[in-house]
Amino acid sequence: MKKIIIAIDGYSSTGKSTIAKRVANTLQYVYIDTGAMYRAVTFLALKRGFISEGKQTLTIDKDSLLIALKQSIIRFEHNSELGVSEIYLNGQNIEKEIRGLSVASYVSEVAKIPEIRAYLVALQREMGREKGVVMDGRDIGTVVFPEAELKIFMTASEEIRAQRRFLELQQKGEVTTYEEVLQNIQKRDYEDTHRKESPLQKALEAIEIDNSSTTIEEVVQKIVSLVRDKK
Ligand code: DC
Repeated sequence: MKKIIIAIDGYSSTGKSTIAKRVANTLQYVYIDTGAMYRAVTFLALKRGFISEGKQTLTIDKDSLLIALKQSIIRFEHNSELGVSEIYLNGQNIEKEIRGLSVASYVSEVAKIPEIRAYLVALQREMGREKGVVMDGRDIGTVVFPEAELKIFMTASEEIRAQRRFLELQQKGEVTTYEEVLQNIQKRDYEDTHRKESPLQKALEAIEIDNSSTTIEEVVQKIVSLVRDKK
């Protein structure tokens, strides 16, 4: 069976990564969460003190961040106990750190920086070189792999996404409110679709899937059958 590249793009908290992971497991493909890579860079920036916030302003020391990034190693490692792939920054597993609200509040700003995007896009292309990958993000079908054999554009209503994310954060013990999560999602949607560099867009040939009222499993099965139809 010929391996292909499956690009899954869409708004935040649409269940992209859960679905992409399951599709990858079913097809025995590699799963790459590019959002986790932007989050890892944001974590690096916060850790090294390259982000400073005034009352009205946010400043990122881009030059220092790019240097630090080029000296860092971002990689995914499969955790066979949990059956998931986890992200490491310079040998440290940072899965938990990158999912908190602190990283979430700054990641859109970091993801706007053209030099950071160019560096991560090159890494992502390298990771997908051998095909047999499911990659999710915002610009996979438009920028990273415009030649991907299957492109999916995932959507779900704002309220459903906020509710799902709120429950997820609660389970992790984060202190937050539904309203705060909804606002974060609205802000990220706006920034993802309005930024100058690689804004979130549906690729022309992408298949749109709205999962507001479908189960994860239904969407997984739909994507797997689309892959099988390609044969
Ligand atoms: O998918 P996510 O919520 O983990 O993504 C985190 C942030 O990274 C989000 O604000 C958009 C950005 N991102 C991006 O600009 N391009 C990608 N390919 C993936 C994520």
